[in-house]
Amino acid sequence: MRTKSIERSIADTDDGEHSLKKNLSALDLTVFGVGVVIGAGIFTLTGRAAAEVSGPAIVFSFVLAAICCALAALCYAEFASTVPVSGSAYTFSYASLGELLAWIIGWDLLLELMLGASVVAQGWSEYLVTLLEQFGIIWPAATAPGGVVDLPAMLLIGALTVLIVVGIKESLRVNLVLVGLKLFIVLFVIVAGLFLVDVANYSPFIPASAPIASESGLDAPLMQVVLGMEPSAFGVAGIFSGAALVFFAYIGFDVVATTAEEAKNPQRDLPIGIIATLIICTVLYCAVALVITGMIRYDKINPEAALAQAFADKGQAWMAVVISAGAVAGLTTVVLTLLIGASRVVFAMSRDRLLPSTLSRVHHKFRTPWLISVVLGVMGMLIAGLTPIGKLEEMVNIGTLAAFIMVSIGVIVLRRKRPDLQRGFRVPFVPVLPIVSALICLYLMINLSVLTWLRFAGWMALGVVLYFAYGYWFSKARREEKDQRSTVGEERH
Ligand code: ALA
Repeated sequence: MRTKSIERSIADTDDGEHSLKKNLSALDLTVFGVGVVIGAGIFTLTGRAAAEVSGPAIVFSFVLAAICCALAALCYAEFASTVPVSGSAYTFSYASLGELLAWIIGWDLLLELMLGASVVAQGWSEYLVTLLEQFGIIWPAATAPGGVVDLPAMLLIGALTVLIVVGIKESLRVNLVLVGLKLFIVLFVIVAGLFLVDVANYSPFIPASAPIASESGLDAPLMQVVLGMEPSAFGVAGIFSGAALVFFAYIGFDVVATTAEEAKNPQRDLPIGIIATLIICTVLYCAVALVITGMIRYDKINPEAALAQAFADKGQAWMAVVISAGAVAGLTTVVLTLLIGASRVVFAMSRDRLLPSTLSRVHHKFRTPWLISVVLGVMGMLIAGLTPIGKLEEMVNIGTLAAFIMVSIGVIVLRRKRPDLQRGFRVPFVPVLPIVSALICLYLMINLSVLTWLRFAGWMALGVVLYFAYGYWFSKARREEKDQRSTVGEERH
């Protein structure tokens, strides 16, 4: 299988009109990470998971999901510090597992990032409409979420696309302000909530196990259908099901790796950025989980609006305004970062000629891959504006978990193939740790529904067809291989 050497990948980053500005520090990367990770998950998922599957033990689910992400994060950190090139898991797979698998993972990342941006934009739009309502402004139903077209979601993606084209530093400056606001509001919620905690609500901390009213057909988890296992809520098993659910809340830290090429000192800063992001988010998530389940008994939580309702029940309905404002600020940065991540993956794929190379042209003034950003922006606007996405969040989870598995395996392969490479950061206990990482991800994947697996398989099949229709023939690595062979042939004659 054709692979792309690390040296070649790094050399390509200096390719004039296809090269990006290098000006991100460890702090920029951490802000970037926190900006993309903390979003819909903390605002909506925590309460839902506590009410439906884990009870107060949701805090253990968060820790478990964090462990899964931390193992994958270590693998990402090793790769990012060895191959500081745009494209994240795609680039890493190209260097270790070969072109076809790299293409597949790039295609998969596109699913994670584009769909993620669109799904979160729709969530943002819902919070915006609620926030406006709290100020007495009613957004016309036809252009609100659930109407004919979700106009706020489209406008958000459009505006963020313009920002991304203008420059990554500029995008990160806006990001910094919004992340600051988001963190402030999350901390405010935690502190305000702490005063309203009633410790009696923590008992039982791990509620007794109960079987989930078994979902049938395509909505059932793959694990249940294929392996004949019964999913159950609460109890120890509920902690695991909760982890599969709240995994979404951690999605995004891997996006830090997509900007590797724009980091000033990637070998040091990328591992710091990735790991710091994960630590900050885990602490905040656990705190929010403890506050919600402490304020209100888990079986009284409203899964649709857990935080707002928990405060309303304590006579603090005004907090709903703060929470909506936090969500509007918070989700903006998630969409922004996912869009940047998506553009960097396509950038890397197009620079390798697995997609048309015109896409990866960098703007002469802004030094950003403007064409890709515009194309993806328009696609995101259409998806967010016109599709009733509903359950597609699970697609984001499955796409991300698949990428984690590839990166974990890739670390082992690259250690064997290229032990000589300078690694700014090394995963401890290889191959055990990456294997455990891949197995945990697989376990979380089989907790997702059959329908999600079918959709995922469909998307992947389309990707394989596209590869053999275009990328395979035009690949830069293939051309170089051919040129090399003909030079060797000529020399022999
Ligand atoms: N982790 C991101 C969120 O929770 C995707 O919105």
